[in-house]
Amino acid sequence: MERNQIIISPEKIREQYVYMDKVRALLGERMQKVHYAYVETFGCQQNEADSERIMGMLENMGYTPTQDAALSDIIIVNTCAVREHAELRALSITGQFKHLKEKKKSLIIGVCGCMVSQEHRKEDIKNKYPYINFLFGTSMNWKLPEILYNSMIKQKRQYHLDCGDIGNIAEDLPIRRESGFKAWVSVMYGCNNFCTYCVVPYVRGRERSRDPERILDEIRELAKDGYREITLLGQNVNSYGKDLEIDYDFADLLEDICKIDGDFIVRFMTSHPKDASRKLIDTMARSPKIAKAFHLPLQSGSDRILKEMNRHYDRETYLSLVGYMRERMPDIAITTDIIVGFPGETEEDFEQTLDMLETVGYDNIYSFIYSKRRGTKASLMEDQIPEEIKKERFARMIEKQSAISSGKNSVYLGSVQKVLVEGRSKTDPDKLTGRNEKNRLVHFVGDDSLIGKFANVRITEAETFSLSGELEK
Ligand code: 5AD
Ligand code: SF4
Repeated sequence: MERNQIIISPEKIREQYVYMDKVRALLGERMQKVHYAYVETFGCQQNEADSERIMGMLENMGYTPTQDAALSDIIIVNTCAVREHAELRALSITGQFKHLKEKKKSLIIGVCGCMVSQEHRKEDIKNKYPYINFLFGTSMNWKLPEILYNSMIKQKRQYHLDCGDIGNIAEDLPIRRESGFKAWVSVMYGCNNFCTYCVVPYVRGRERSRDPERILDEIRELAKDGYREITLLGQNVNSYGKDLEIDYDFADLLEDICKIDGDFIVRFMTSHPKDASRKLIDTMARSPKIAKAFHLPLQSGSDRILKEMNRHYDRETYLSLVGYMRERMPDIAITTDIIVGFPGETEEDFEQTLDMLETVGYDNIYSFIYSKRRGTKASLMEDQIPEEIKKERFARMIEKQSAISSGKNSVYLGSVQKVLVEGRSKTDPDKLTGRNEKNRLVHFVGDDSLIGKFANVRITEAETFSLSGELEK
């Protein structure tokens, strides 16, 4: 596929701006003064980033963002398909919006994201949710103005799901960022890996990288606007650049980002162990702007299961990568994703995974009970693991990791941590909460003027999943 076929042309983007004007004009003709928009987001950071673009377009069309679905004139549900649980929650919430529509006939409801990019879910919504005005797939986000406009004037349901398996890149769309100090920046989209359990390659298309200059321009703007944390996103950031016509990889991109002036830190996710390079680790080690935190999904500690998962690495290569990271950055925080109960996982396989938790000594893990996804290879495998066994293993895994995380946290006692202050703690509103470079939650007493800034906090208490301390004057 030629690159100019993947990048949506400036003319096509301009057309969408014309549709944005048209929607704004339609809203202007109505008696109502303020039109509210609500976006409900499920799933990963990529979806959160997509929702910020969706809200940006809605705002440009004349809508006012709201956190209250009941107030809204338009609702967009941005769905996830990675696990069944996320799909069921999205469907259930979408179902609840029916009552809002019964009260307000003019309410427009659209559903987008990974779940509806699957044929069977599209059919479900078509047939069982007649009050949904339109659906659009992950490759169609940029067309929202046109889809919305058509839905308003044609009074006909719209389906724009032609993701194909290629995907595209749309630049220069408006954005409304949720935070004034933390920003997501997508560097690439899609995935080519086809891990046998995963639906992502089917719903987000093939890997495609944004042009470095576009990414660097976006980050220059963010730095100028005073953003303090920039997280680079991609399903497999280590593949960045492979599809570019120049010789330029993810480590080169990081190097160039670090040259940008500004008091900000850079994070990135997600890395695939088969592609994470020594060059990337060396770049991290010598760049003070890059947070010394690495998310490296293991998925399973059993070589046999890793093969079945189509992961293309084994325990030994994974451990040698971790070894190199620690050699170059002894205090690096390493986190991971683990799937429990992949088809055919024996007690012995599972114990190998538990053993890896100990051997690597993760700072934190994100563990998931295997969920059968339609269309994936693993869904056809025999020997699916019964729910009770999956749950029992899951609980053992959490217990083991809690002890490891606690131990890791206690190391911070007495130290002074530089944290980016995010806001009031949800559990204790008397305290502020922030994260240190290693992504550890830190709670401390302070006033709101610190929100969005870096603060130095002396750690006085270490809990399993967070730290508490006192502000250093
Ligand atoms: N079941 C459970 N977890 C899954 N993940 C991806 N697909 C599945 C699935 N079918 C997990 C992986 C991935 C994370 C984002 O979600 O651990 O790294
Ligand atoms: Fe899914 Fe594997 Fe791609 Fe990650 S690398 S998105 S787990 S297929």
